[in-house]
Amino acid sequence: MDMMKSPVDPAFRNDVLSCFADQQHAIPARWLYDRRGSELFEEITELPEYYPTRTETRLLEQHCPDIAKIAGPERAVIEFGSGSSTKTPHLLRALDPAGYVPIDISGEFLAASSRELQTVFPDLPIYPLEADFMRHLQLPEEVTDMPKLGFFPGSTIGNMIARTSVDLLRFMRDTLGEGAQLLIGFDRIKDTDVLVAAYDDSAGVTAQFSLNLLHRINGELDGDIPVDRFAHVAVWNDLYARIEIYLEALADVRFAIGGDSYAMQKGQKIHIENSHKYGLRDARLMLRAGGWSPIREWSDKDDYFSLILADARPFKNAP
Ligand code: AVI
Repeated sequence: MDMMKSPVDPAFRNDVLSCFADQQHAIPARWLYDRRGSELFEEITELPEYYPTRTETRLLEQHCPDIAKIAGPERAVIEFGSGSSTKTPHLLRALDPAGYVPIDISGEFLAASSRELQTVFPDLPIYPLEADFMRHLQLPEEVTDMPKLGFFPGSTIGNMIARTSVDLLRFMRDTLGEGAQLLIGFDRIKDTDVLVAAYDDSAGVTAQFSLNLLHRINGELDGDIPVDRFAHVAVWNDLYARIEIYLEALADVRFAIGGDSYAMQKGQKIHIENSHKYGLRDARLMLRAGGWSPIREWSDKDDYFSLILADARPFKNAP
């Protein structure tokens, strides 16, 4: 036995095995983010075709002073899925918050980015929280009594189907409490060619990001999937207003995972990701369905991306 190998997440095994047991093959997108996947995603954010990161960063650079004015001082900033926290400095600089809680599922990533941020903001109390923000959360005691500003950038909400997005927004409202605010990024519906290019770049980095999932299965679940017999495919589904990402078998293939045999026919696909895009009204409705009232929004001149600030007002028994 390889003593260095870390234990396999049973939920990963379950999701992969049920994918191949089902007629319709699908694996939840969260499994794309092992260490290599997270590195590849960082590379994606710098690609010329991938406009969301730079557009949102520019919006933050320009409008953080406005956001700070509305949010007011002494809030604790709670970032959901902080990753490498690259956009956070703009917000922290403008807001001068009383505390910062980055939440991420990867403890390793979280520790490294918190350390780095602490060197830039030596006086800011940082309370990293290793957790899955899709489940119920207990915030660190130190911020319990502070008014909160939730931060959910990157249009990460777009990777969830509508029902899950609304559940998450409700969770966030419960976690942050009445009177909290939420600053959230939404990627907008735009020209299909621009969208497809953002998810199928000419350098093939997004393809590597998708195919890495098969390498991960092979490595962690003792598989022998012939990765070179699969292609990354990104298509726009107009009915659902989303980019769908698949891994398509280029030939009939047979492979094993953990000793069990599987087969896929040429042309059969594994659905591995959705990235929903929004009209402004869609985004506002989604927020209201999750218990948040939009108060201000900022978009770039091409309406490629929007940041919305919303607050958790008390629920009234209106019809
Ligand atoms: C993390 N998320 C918002 C990215 C997106 O744009 O949906 C993930 C991604 N997948 C492929 N490229 C980027």
